[in-house]
Amino acid sequence: MGEVVPAPWGGHLVTSFELCDRLLRDRQWLVPDGAWRARQGEATRWSADSSREMSKTLPGLNPPEHTRVRRAAGNMFDRRSLEDIRLSVAEVTEGLLDRLVDRLTADGEADFGELVSEELPVIVIGRWLGLPSADYPRLRELTHDQVFAQELLPSASQLALSDAATAELREYFTDLVRQRRRAPGDDPVSGWIRVWDGIEPDRGAADEAVYHLSLFVLLAALETTSTLLSTAVRLLLEHPGQWARLRAAPERVPAAVEEALRYDAPTHVVSRVASRDTTVAGVEVREDEMVHLMVGAANRDPAHHLDPEVFDVGRRATHLSFSGGIHYCLGAPLARLEATTLLEALLRRLPDLRLVRAPEWAPRVAFRRMLTLPVTTRP
Ligand code: HEM
Repeated sequence: MGEVVPAPWGGHLVTSFELCDRLLRDRQWLVPDGAWRARQGEATRWSADSSREMSKTLPGLNPPEHTRVRRAAGNMFDRRSLEDIRLSVAEVTEGLLDRLVDRLTADGEADFGELVSEELPVIVIGRWLGLPSADYPRLRELTHDQVFAQELLPSASQLALSDAATAELREYFTDLVRQRRRAPGDDPVSGWIRVWDGIEPDRGAADEAVYHLSLFVLLAALETTSTLLSTAVRLLLEHPGQWARLRAAPERVPAAVEEALRYDAPTHVVSRVASRDTTVAGVEVREDEMVHLMVGAANRDPAHHLDPEVFDVGRRATHLSFSGGIHYCLGAPLARLEATTLLEALLRRLPDLRLVRAPEWAPRVAFRRMLTLPVTTRP
């Protein structure tokens, strides 16, 4: 329908790779921050508690505040930190696959989503943040509800779920920051407290900043990564020729992960607002108007990718699935590590894995979520 298409609910949809990429990097396009949300009025979704809370986290901030908070967050998953996490990811993955194998042996089939994809990200990030494992199931549930505040067009009941989840998560993470301030350790939350104490004289404001960062890291790390794990496995099992290629050449696994990210991004839409009246590909966009960058479409743009509808682990896939510009995903190295570790282990341990039937999806638009992924090793 074109590169810039009016959205039926207002604003515009941007579909080409080149334009989405350019807008993400262009500083005149802003994220919908707290001031923008307040201007939309009390009766809109933007004034929901969950939405207000999100506007105080990294993807809801614009420079100069964004620059300050992002600098304080640091490079969470640089090469050295990732080396420390690598062993833990490998160990957790093997344990989850042990359980999967047991279930496959006992029942003949198993839900890969429930047993593996939903588990790996919460265990990895929970251990990294130093959270008690007993809390993981509740945190995962709350994340699923909270994400509605970030959906494209959430209903009133979805926003109510998100508000309730946000309130519970606020209590959880405020308490966590309080505990770590009392008894600091060698963990990221204690590290962020030290950093913020150095730049923010008001201790209450420093704790609030650390709370928002910890909260967002959990929210950002769970569903997205679970979806990537399930999507990569589903795509490979649906394309047995590609699975066979990987079995023959496991060194291609990182390329396969990038192709899965391109072919079906966990987050299909990223939104920006215009900081002033402007034109995009000849279409007028007024100050404060929203554009939805359709990442899922951009990743299959025939002007950018050869045979975009073909899932091909041999290609050097480029994509916008981790966004771009100053908001580029801070957790991309961790998500990639989890996905490559899992696929390598699967190729080694369960080379005969097959889909039993098509997966079920939650009715979402922006944040994809697979509900079930039934697999078997039976012929
Ligand atoms: C496959 C998994 C993941 C996907 C697809 C993904 C996607 C994204 C996207 C699209 C954004 C930018 C939103 C925007 O531009 O408005 C983003 C930002 C972010 N992500 Fe991820 N993410 C993933 C995993 C993770 C993980 C594992 C973590 C942390 C452990 C994480 C932490 C963050 C943070 C902190 C930001 C905010 C960056 C900023 O605004 O400056 N993400 N992610």
